[in-house]
Amino acid sequence: MNKLLKHAIDLIRTGEVIAAPTDTVYGLLGDATNDIAVKKIYMLKNRPLNKQLIVLVSGLDMAQEIADFSPEARDIANFFWINQQKPLTLVLHLKQSNNLSKLITAGYQTIALRRPSNSIALALIKELNLPLVAPSANISSHISATSANMVREEFGQSIKLVLDSPICKYGIESTILDMTKTPYTIVRTGSVTNDEIFDFLKKHLDNSMTNSILTSNSVLLTSKQFIKTYRLKLPLRINAMHPSKGEAFIAFGKTNIKHDINISPTGNLKEAARNLFKAINMLDNPNKYSGIAIMPIQNQGLGISINNILSHCLHSNNWCASTY
Ligand code: TXA
Ligand code: MG
Repeated sequence: MNKLLKHAIDLIRTGEVIAAPTDTVYGLLGDATNDIAVKKIYMLKNRPLNKQLIVLVSGLDMAQEIADFSPEARDIANFFWINQQKPLTLVLHLKQSNNLSKLITAGYQTIALRRPSNSIALALIKELNLPLVAPSANISSHISATSANMVREEFGQSIKLVLDSPICKYGIESTILDMTKTPYTIVRTGSVTNDEIFDFLKKHLDNSMTNSILTSNSVLLTSKQFIKTYRLKLPLRINAMHPSKGEAFIAFGKTNIKHDINISPTGNLKEAARNLFKAINMLDNPNKYSGIAIMPIQNQGLGISINNILSHCLHSNNWCASTY
């Protein structure tokens, strides 16, 4: 086994937290059964203790030790996790007998689970034979990190090990589907498109359920959950055709307009998603720019997830703790 992977395993086994790429964005990974590791994660992220964490598992067997799976939940997990290898996080009822740290669920009876498809995260879970908590590797309310450098910029020396990998395949967070009540609800749009979920449900579930499935742009599930926003140092202007004076300009698709970064010169939404957070991170610099402007991105498929992220980017001046 690779030396760094072995080091990561040793650290996690002793209750340490490491950063590693997942299939979506970089995660802070720790032993989900260990209170000390989970507490460290909340502290590192400066995360409110009542905002639950996502748990990564090696597959359905491990997942079923943690949560109750209905036949539909099993079908969805098999399809997206195993068949398609796609990052769909499922919110399910927590099993009474689970061995997770109680801090993860913050007193709620539900749990968000996913099998990641990338080799590093999967190898860690399988070698340790432990579920891992995996929030995005950023301080609460900051944008997600998609490279080891972004993680180091964010946390400096406070993380003992950051595993490096050239790229996170998807670049934006996983889609979260709440299956604890019907109609099922997409509580966070992300790497798996709404259409992919609808198509699967249409084929496999009875009509009454799929006709009434809801989509919501926010992670507002109960009054105690928070709406997700990203706090930027600069204001972000969406659907911009040109930069205004002083603004950094993010292009999408073929264009003659002078830009700082083009997140996909060919107008490919997958590529745009992969480059999005890195581009924002590079340009969010008040010493160089007065704001960031980004060209329109079509509101379909992954474009819906990208536009939701952009519409949740708030300038620090307009941001207050109660909104995240
Ligand atoms: O792509 C991802 O899912 C990444 C990678 C690293 O795994 N993780 C991630 O975690 O995005 P985090 O903590 O940054 O965002 C998790 C979101 C939060 O908005 C949280 O409120 C929501 O998931 N969440 C967690 N448990 C939940 C639950 N039981 N019900 C509803 N929402 C939940
Ligand atoms: Mg996050």
